[in-house]
Amino acid sequence: MAVTDELTALAAETLQRIDAAQSTAALDEVRVAVVGKQGSLTGYLRNMGSVPKEERAAVGKAVNQAREQVEAALEARKAALKASELDAAIEGAAVDITLPGRGQQMGTRHLINAMIDEVSELFLGLGYSVAEGTEVETDYYNFTALNAPADHPSRSMQDTFYVRDMSGDVAEVQGESDVLLRTQTSGVQVHVMEDQELPIYIIAPGKVYRRDVADPSHLPQFHQVEGLVVDRGITFGDLKGTLELVCKQIFGPDRKTRFRAHYFPFTEPSAEVDVSCGICHGEGCRMCKGTGWLELLGCGMVDSNVLKMSGIDPEEYSGFAFGMGLERMACLKYNVPDLRMLLEGDMRFLRQF
Ligand code: DAH
Repeated sequence: MAVTDELTALAAETLQRIDAAQSTAALDEVRVAVVGKQGSLTGYLRNMGSVPKEERAAVGKAVNQAREQVEAALEARKAALKASELDAAIEGAAVDITLPGRGQQMGTRHLINAMIDEVSELFLGLGYSVAEGTEVETDYYNFTALNAPADHPSRSMQDTFYVRDMSGDVAEVQGESDVLLRTQTSGVQVHVMEDQELPIYIIAPGKVYRRDVADPSHLPQFHQVEGLVVDRGITFGDLKGTLELVCKQIFGPDRKTRFRAHYFPFTEPSAEVDVSCGICHGEGCRMCKGTGWLELLGCGMVDSNVLKMSGIDPEEYSGFAFGMGLERMACLKYNVPDLRMLLEGDMRFLRQF
């Protein structure tokens, strides 16, 4: 076959291959194979020296023609492939606005926080204000000023965690040697009596700590709401009326309450308040250990010693105080059998409230 015919055939075959290329990458392979440095068409150009003189003009013309054809076809095909590749990329990245949206799940307040809010709202409505204390407290405010001096047996029921400084020594705050994590919010009572003007109507919600192992009815860290009223002429009747109202509000009109005589060092007389069992309604069941009642809170008339230690004259003023465990209250309200369920973080459980 004459060289010019070979070139015509090569050009025709190359144009077909260019047409058949389905991507810019495949097209580039064709370009390299034909007009690249080692390409088949480039080979003809390189070999022009060996073409007999009389044919050189014709072959040269044919090679150039073939190259121009191929290069023009490569250019055109490249532009077309690029455009369709861009289209495909745009289409692939497109958002299908007909798909259903991804649902956002609304969070809920944790039951403990919801309980703190509920109790706080209730007392704010009665004209109380909210006082805040610190979780790290001194022995004096947690025990001594609440009528429980160092050798008082009631202390043994509220062992706690003691705070040491970096050297391992017992830390000192305000000249007190024993710094601890408070076991009760009752110490806030003393701060408020020392710092605020009379009369006093406050509640103090907050976290407390005990050296207890977690079980269905104990947690080493939990929340209490403390309450304190100090005014002229406050009686046990005021205490009863207030707490009965609060219980009705929180547990609903069907649940009964009862006051049971008890002992606390900082109140005299003292009582515990029980609420009727929400599962058996007083019949007796496993939840209430067969008694029909569940213990809710401690309360009493502020002991005159406590008033005196905080600089208040018990001849002129009297008061009542109470303290309730928030986790316990939440469980009694919603019939949850184990305090630990509040802390396990199981969203199926927590979302119910
Ligand atoms: N602080 C007590 C406790 O943790 C609860 C308590 C009882 C608080 C009687 C009071 C009160 O204010 O008057 O067990």
